[in-house]
Amino acid sequence: LPPVIAVDGPSGVGKGLVTRWLAERLGFHRLDSGALYRILALAGHRRDIDLHRGEQLAALAARLSIRFVGTTEDDEAILVDGEDWTHDVRKESTGALASLIATQPPVRAALLQQQRDFREAPGLIADGRDMGTIVFPDARLKIFMDASADERAQRRHKQLSAKGIEARIATLREEIRARDERDRNRPIAPLKPADGAQVVDTTGLPPAAVLEKIEALLQR
Ligand code: CDP
Repeated sequence: LPPVIAVDGPSGVGKGLVTRWLAERLGFHRLDSGALYRILALAGHRRDIDLHRGEQLAALAARLSIRFVGTTEDDEAILVDGEDWTHDVRKESTGALASLIATQPPVRAALLQQQRDFREAPGLIADGRDMGTIVFPDARLKIFMDASADERAQRRHKQLSAKGIEARIATLREEIRARDERDRNRPIAPLKPADGAQVVDTTGLPPAAVLEKIEALLQR
C-alpha cells in the first residue's frame, strides 16, 4: 500500500496549510477529511434531513459525487454533484454542523472507506481528527498539531477575512472552543494524539517555523 502521513489536530491549528505544503513537496495526494464531513452536513441540511439521523446521512453519503479541484487554498474548488460548493463548505457554520454529524457512528462508518480510497500512489497526506488513530493506523508518520484556542481563533479570523468571510474573533473563539470540546469528548473517534504521534505545538510559531519543524520530522 502507498505510504500515508497522518496530520491530526483541533480546529484552526493550521493543518490545511501544512498538509498542502507537504503534498506539494512530496508530490503526494491529499485528503481533507474535514471537508467530507462538512459536505455531508451541508448536503443533509439542504435536503432537510434531520442531522441527528445518522442512518439517513450515511445513505446520502453513498450517493454524493464529490470532486476536489486545485491544490492551494486560493484555487481550491469543491464540486458536489457538479455544483461549486466551495464557499459554503468553508463557512464556520458548516464546520459546526460537521462536528454535529461527526459524533454519529453511521456517519463515520459511511465515510471510512471513502477516506481510505484516497490512498493512491505515490502516497497520501491525510488531514483530520482521527487519521492516525482510526482511518490510517498504519501511517508511516503521525503528526498531532496543537495551539492555544486564542491563537487558533486569530488564525481562523485571518484566514476567513482573506476569503472575504466576516467573523468576530470573540465569536470564533467561542465556536472553536465548543467544537473542540465536542470533538475531544465524543465517545467515537475522539480527537487525541495517536499512539506514536509526534506532537507539534505551534503556539506562537509563524507558518515557516511550523513547516521547518515538520520538515525535521520527515527527515528522521
Ligand atoms: O477547518 P477545521 O479544522 O475547523 O475543521 P474541519 O477539519 O473542516 O472539520 C470539521 C469538523 O468535522 C470537525 O470539527 C470534526 O467534528 C469533524 N471531523 C471529524 O470528526 N473527523 C475528521 N477526520 C475530520 C473532521
